[in-house]
Amino acid sequence: MNSITVNEVTKTFPDGTTALTNVSFTVNPGEGVVLLGHNGSGKSTLFKCISGFEKPTTGEIKYGDHDITTLSKRKFRPLRKKVGMVFQDFHLIYNLSVFQNVLFGAMGNSKTFVQTLAFCASDDMRMKAMECLDRVGLAHLAKRRADQLSGGQQQRVAIARMLMQDPEIVLADEPIASLDPRAGREVMELLWEIVRERKLTVVCILHQTEIALEYGERFIGLHSGKLVMDQIKGQVSKEELTTLYNKESTFESFQKAGATHE
Ligand SMILES: Nc1ncnc2c1ncn2[C@@H]1O[C@H](COP(=O)(O)OP(=O)(O)OP(=O)(O)O)[C@@H](O)[C@H]1O
Ligand SMILES: [Mg+2]
Repeated sequence: MNSITVNEVTKTFPDGTTALTNVSFTVNPGEGVVLLGHNGSGKSTLFKCISGFEKPTTGEIKYGDHDITTLSKRKFRPLRKKVGMVFQDFHLIYNLSVFQNVLFGAMGNSKTFVQTLAFCASDDMRMKAMECLDRVGLAHLAKRRADQLSGGQQQRVAIARMLMQDPEIVLADEPIASLDPRAGREVMELLWEIVRERKLTVVCILHQTEIALEYGERFIGLHSGKLVMDQIKGQVSKEELTTLYNKESTFESFQKAGATHE
């Protein structure tokens, strides 16, 4: 199931805001895609549609051959577990330990629910949580409360929690935007190393064009809810990525520049 197909997706919210217009692309298994676009261009909305938190108004989203927009909740649940998410603001449960966050963070986010589950967790699960923490270099902080970590450490816990899910697809929404340049780079390096070693399909939203160019194998650009760029590594420059943030840029200007030719 580890490919993602977005087919002619349009999303209009109840208040009439259209965040996505006719967006189509396919991410191949194991591909590392960077998604860029100005504030409000529709990136997070696209992620919400891909992860099933929002339904597209029209169009389809597929994991492999499964069209998730038409699946029942019951059938979607096991597929959704295969999609790991990493967020700008980490989404940890701050009054629980690092270990508890990793052990059950992927399963729910109410403190009592998580504590109940923690009570019943098998030895295998506990061992796996420690392995995930070890992979991000934080096994020694397992007992510490999550709110007593630096931002970079918190994001590493979020990555460990994501690993606990055994994801096939990873969606990272500005994973380094809340971190200073050094911590940001370390987290990016770790995230990319992990998705590469496990051959995961990844789509990562970034605003830093330099880092995007360094890690991305393919660059998808949104402008005002439309897909205006789809280029592979080597075909796109920092200047071209920067045009995604220009107010004067239009769908037509990107078309003229051939920004969606592969
Ligand atoms: N629930 C909602 N109801 C109405 N409009 C929404 C809703 N969520 C997002 N929008 C609007 O949809 C557009 C796209 O928002 P989105 O959050 O997807 O942008 P983004 O590219 O992720 O921006 P940023 O870089 O700031 O995170 C914006 O105009 C936003 O105001
Ligand atoms: Mg966003």
